[in-house]
Amino acid sequence: MLFFINFKAYTESTSANALKIIRDIEREFGVSESIVLVLNPLDSLIETKLTKYVQTAEPLDSGAFTGHIPIGVLKEYHYSGVMLNHSEHKISHEKIRNSVEMASKLGLRTLVCAADLKEIESVVNFHPDFVAYEPPELIGGNISVSSAKPEIIGAAVGILRGTGSKLVVGAGIKNREDVRVSGKLGAEGILVASGVVKSPEPIRVIVEMMKEVV
Ligand code: G3P
Repeated sequence: MLFFINFKAYTESTSANALKIIRDIEREFGVSESIVLVLNPLDSLIETKLTKYVQTAEPLDSGAFTGHIPIGVLKEYHYSGVMLNHSEHKISHEKIRNSVEMASKLGLRTLVCAADLKEIESVVNFHPDFVAYEPPELIGGNISVSSAKPEIIGAAVGILRGTGSKLVVGAGIKNREDVRVSGKLGAEGILVASGVVKSPEPIRVIVEMMKEVV
C-alpha cells in the first residue's frame, strides 16, 4: 500500500514548513518507498530522496509558457510523478489524456483523481498508474471516504480490476482505522492532506497510519 501525502497550499505545509515535515519524515522513516510526497510546485526545489509528485502539471515541453508547469521539465526537479485533476484543480478529460500520455513517455507516474464512479470509468481509459477516488464533499472534513463510501470503493475496485491502474482513496482520512478499512476494501493507496499536515503532530499521525501501510 502507498501513502500519498498531499501538501496542498496550507501555511502548515508549504515553504519552510514543508521542508520541516519532509525532514521529520526522513528522520522517522528514512527513505520509505511507501511514502509519496505530493508537493505544491512552489516547493519544487526541496531536495529529498523520498518519492515526490507534483500537484499538477500540463502537457507541455519546456519553452515559452509563462506561468505554466510543463510536464517536460518535471524530471529536472526530481519528480517521479504528477497528480492530475484534483477536485481543487479540475482539468478537461482531453488534457488528462494528453498529460498521462506525455508523462508516461517520459517515465513519470500519474495519479489521476476522480470524484465518482462515472469519472473513474472515464479516466481509467487513459491508463494512469493510479486513480484516486476522492468524493469532493468529504475533502477536508472529519468523515472519511472509507467510512462514508465503502460501497463506492468496492465498486471502484471492480472497475479498475484488470486495467493496470491501481486504486487510491482519499478525503477525510484521519487515522489508522481509516487506512485499515481502505486497505480491506481493496484500495492500494491512500491520499491524505489535512489529517496529516494540519495536525499539530504530523509525524505522530503518520506513524500511526503507517502501521497499516503494508
Ligand atoms: O488530495 C487529498 C485530499 O484532497 C484529501 O484532503 O484534507 O480530506 O485529507 P483531506
